[in-house]
Amino acid sequence: MALLIASSSRADLFAEAARACDGDLDVRVAPDIGRREDVTCALVWQPPQGLLKGLPNLRLIISIGAGVDSLLADPTLPDVPLVRFVDPDLTGRMAEYVALHVLFHHRRMTEFRELQSRKVWKYLPEPAAHEVRVGIMGLGVLGTAAASALGAFGYRLRGWARTPKSVAGVSSFCGADGLDAFLAETDILAVLLPLTPATRGILDRKLFSRLSQQGRDARLPGPALINAGRGGLQIDTDIAAALDAGDLYAASLDVFEAEPLPATSPLWSHPRVVVTPHNAAESAPSAIVRYALRQMQRQRCGEPLENLVDIRRGY
Ligand code: NAP
Ligand code: GLV
Repeated sequence: MALLIASSSRADLFAEAARACDGDLDVRVAPDIGRREDVTCALVWQPPQGLLKGLPNLRLIISIGAGVDSLLADPTLPDVPLVRFVDPDLTGRMAEYVALHVLFHHRRMTEFRELQSRKVWKYLPEPAAHEVRVGIMGLGVLGTAAASALGAFGYRLRGWARTPKSVAGVSSFCGADGLDAFLAETDILAVLLPLTPATRGILDRKLFSRLSQQGRDARLPGPALINAGRGGLQIDTDIAAALDAGDLYAASLDVFEAEPLPATSPLWSHPRVVVTPHNAAESAPSAIVRYALRQMQRQRCGEPLENLVDIRRGY
């Protein structure tokens, strides 16, 4: 019974944490798999396609990420339970990221940074939080936590999901029918959707043009976009075009169509774009490994696994 760690980043840290948690655990780190028949569980982040198929006794796959789009893109993914990572460590970090960037754009920090670079001491009018409408696309584990963090500042909150939600202090919109009304009431859009066939490319020029026009006064010059979901949700060139056309005022992007973001992307140097390297919620290896060992234990004891992915739904 071995645990295989196959991760495009921090694999050695996961292995170290696993050995520290359970000294008796047989831990293998891809590509040094050893006897493939020994592996019963795989802890993975973006493993090479086909790797998991070659493990005849695999009984459980645990995703290091909350999003499982790259795993589901593998046509040879074995038909065994797939659990995604859901944990206060990740959820807390994401709530911080969203709150940080909502505040950053609400308080016009891209403009203040630019003024500072020119040593210009200038007052810019800003609305109070209770005058700013924040729309959260994806009202799942992370969207709900972000809403709760933002609620503390008094923002007016809207949420959009596939199905209706009842979250305290958040006006709920859902499905294609609810999208227009949701966007029309959104000054700052925070995106925490999973990447699925239904959501791929949803953040395009057309969607940006449907965002609230109301925010465009002297105090909040236009809608801001925060995407910490997946790069495949957005069309990078549409974001740059919407910023230049004034459909978007500013953006914070943690994820991109291609990662790392190519040096040729105009987003790197746009004065009103904040680029972060897909680190909105990079969890501690110890938290991920503790979670993984708990799932392995649950499976051994015949208890229900937590946060099973619905493969058909895609998240
Ligand atoms: P979750 O709990 O599964 O929530 C997903 C939400 O998206 C749900 O509210 C769901 O609606 C909604 N949704 C899915 N498909 C939709 C559609 N077609 N139309 C409208 N709403 C739709 O997932 P989570 O744990 O909050 O994570 C969300 C995503 O964040 C992950 O999939 C991952 O891509 C991303 N993420 C990024 C980072 C980072 O560091 N940047 C870290 C962690 C996660 P229903 O509830 O109605 O089904
Ligand atoms: C990170 O992107 C994750 O899905 O957890």
